[in-house]
Amino acid sequence: MGVSVAYVTYADPEGFDDEKEIALAAWAEAGITGHIVRWDDPEADWAAFDAVVVRTPWDYIDRRQEFLDWARRVESVTRLFNPVAVLERNTDKTYLRDLKALAIPTYWVAPGEAADFPVLDEYVVKPTVSSGARDTIRTRDRAEAQAHAVRLAAEGRTAMIQPYLDMVEAEGETSLLYFGGRFSHAIRRIPMLTDNPLVLDRDNDRGELRDPEPDQLALAERVLAELPGTLYARVDLVRLPDGSPVLIEVELTEPYLFLRYAPDAAANLARALAEAI
Ligand SMILES: Nc1ncnc2c1ncn2[C@@H]1O[C@H](COP(=O)(O)OP(=O)(O)O)[C@@H](O)[C@H]1O
Ligand SMILES: [Mg+2]
Repeated sequence: MGVSVAYVTYADPEGFDDEKEIALAAWAEAGITGHIVRWDDPEADWAAFDAVVVRTPWDYIDRRQEFLDWARRVESVTRLFNPVAVLERNTDKTYLRDLKALAIPTYWVAPGEAADFPVLDEYVVKPTVSSGARDTIRTRDRAEAQAHAVRLAAEGRTAMIQPYLDMVEAEGETSLLYFGGRFSHAIRRIPMLTDNPLVLDRDNDRGELRDPEPDQLALAERVLAELPGTLYARVDLVRLPDGSPVLIEVELTEPYLFLRYAPDAAANLARALAEAI
């Protein structure tokens, strides 16, 4: 019997995960039979797989505890990538507090805390558990920023307040993909908090291939040195007005991997997976 690995997704009626086929084709080339399975499929026999790779469980945001309990159960019967300890830490952006020296300046408002932060030109306010800019606002109005932070905290969530960096609309955010700790490819991202029609008309394209700058590679490697042992990692970087690169987030749970954007990307992931099992 060959190697059998679960590709973990969610009940995705819209078919948003368009990376399954290319990933599984590359796994097959590497001698790995992939099986697409919903993380919350009650029939799934996780112990039957040689490994379980978390890919696109994109509905866990409202069910984080259930998702982590699932991951813990799976890890008790087979190899889980990324490991549950990584998923637990990474599904709440509070981990950015430990990477403060490398990350975008952030002011935190936990439930019960005062919404206390400096005056900025323009604010981004977001919850620590999110994806796809959900419940995230951009505003120049300090009272509106404060109100959004207070609203999130009242729901028992922790709010993050950051300066809006308009370089996301010019140079753009850069995502660096690493498989098995090795750099694979980098992507120039489309800004999400903009009403610029030129951007919004782009027909849902998510980004384009780019060569990372040496300072971006150096920063991404410093970030990953703090987070060893991952099969897949996406390091998302922006720049401060003085030009220095900073981390906006590191995606170790359910990142879109841009496998169709670089010729070797899917093969790089398959090779890292084959080495890990
Ligand atoms: N401080 C910021 N300045 C500029 N754009 C931001 C900022 N924070 C978030 N964004 C935009 O919103 C997107 C989503 O925010 P992010 O922090 O990556 O959370 P998530 O992807 O988990 O929702 C980013 O990719 C970027 O386009
Ligand atoms: Mg993001």
